[in-house]
Amino acid sequence: MFNKKMVTDLDVNGKNVLVRVDFNVPLMDGAVGDDSRIQAALPTITYLVEQGAAVILCSHLGRPGGEIKPELSLKPVADHLGTLIDAPVSFAEDCIGEKAQAAVAALEPGQVLVLENTRFHAGEKKNDPEMARKLSLLAELYVNDAFGTAHRAHASTTGVAEHLPAAAGFLLEKEIQYLGNAIADPKRPFVTILGGAKVSDKVPVIENLLDKSDHILIGGGMANTFFKAQGYEMAESLVEDDVLDIARSLLEKAGEKLVLPVDVVIADAFDANAADKVMDVGDVPPQWRILDIGPRTVQVFGEIIAKAGTVVWNGPMGVFEFEKFAQGTFAIAKAVAESDATGIIGGGDSTSAIKKSGLDDQITHISTGGGASLEMLEGKTLPGLAALDDK
Ligand code: 3PG
Repeated sequence: MFNKKMVTDLDVNGKNVLVRVDFNVPLMDGAVGDDSRIQAALPTITYLVEQGAAVILCSHLGRPGGEIKPELSLKPVADHLGTLIDAPVSFAEDCIGEKAQAAVAALEPGQVLVLENTRFHAGEKKNDPEMARKLSLLAELYVNDAFGTAHRAHASTTGVAEHLPAAAGFLLEKEIQYLGNAIADPKRPFVTILGGAKVSDKVPVIENLLDKSDHILIGGGMANTFFKAQGYEMAESLVEDDVLDIARSLLEKAGEKLVLPVDVVIADAFDANAADKVMDVGDVPPQWRILDIGPRTVQVFGEIIAKAGTVVWNGPMGVFEFEKFAQGTFAIAKAVAESDATGIIGGGDSTSAIKKSGLDDQITHISTGGGASLEMLEGKTLPGLAALDDK
């Protein structure tokens, strides 16, 4: 099913290879926080090093808006990468132009160069042809391994691929295969779990997966909009009033497939130390708001997950940043980890929940993509993938 040229199809020995990675990682006090995305890119980087390529890495970091923002420099990421691989890692203060070209000229086969943040240039997000051309001047071959950014049509993800032989890296291939297979040919029952604050973010996913899934379990703030659509008073709970009609029509279309919480945890304030209580789904008392799924829901969802053949999960079940309201999300993480199903988790919050719970090694595949994995679940073609050469 993966019909794009792979990095292994290229003759990279002695060549300059430009690799688009997604090094958009959290920085804390100027150092890399969670380095999962860097770790995930290592197979492609080390393969290229071992094959004697001169490896030129480019990525964005954050959203600097086309301006140089020193706090969004990729220098700390380059330093961190240097501690993970057995090859010299250098850094160029720009991703195109003289500084980049000089750094590339000094690069030997088997060495790695990290270019500065591509989004320091406005041309990156505009997919400016001139920026794409300048990037392409640095190398003879292009590899895209940035799954997390594959839903963006930018100069470094699609534009540059028009100028150079363009292949996929191992991470991009792995992500597309896990997410693609899960949707195209799932082991059944196929259970989709969706959470997070907004229904509007997940409507395209629900629409795409409704026919394909056996069950769609809904938690998080987005469940409130469905409850309100069913006529319940939601008091201070987060509700998207402008999508109530869509919620109503989804409920009607989905029937029993769409499983909502049967009980919830409510709080008297949006606060880590708020008073809390469990209630059955119904009218939320004035001044209170729903912040998590309840224990009976955990049980109902857990039984469905335990029997699943495939589970795809995106979005937390409650406000899991507050310990008091994190129980639902952690319980679902545990249920997915303990089930024999092929478990695929995408999205920053569900991924961080599974890592916090220490169960990440029991999950079949944890995606490095937030938006990119959602767009795959929506059934969209990712431009960063489409731009690569066919096999
Ligand atoms: C992500 O973190 O989802 C990707 O790196 C893409 O970042 P963006 O949403 O700023 O384009």
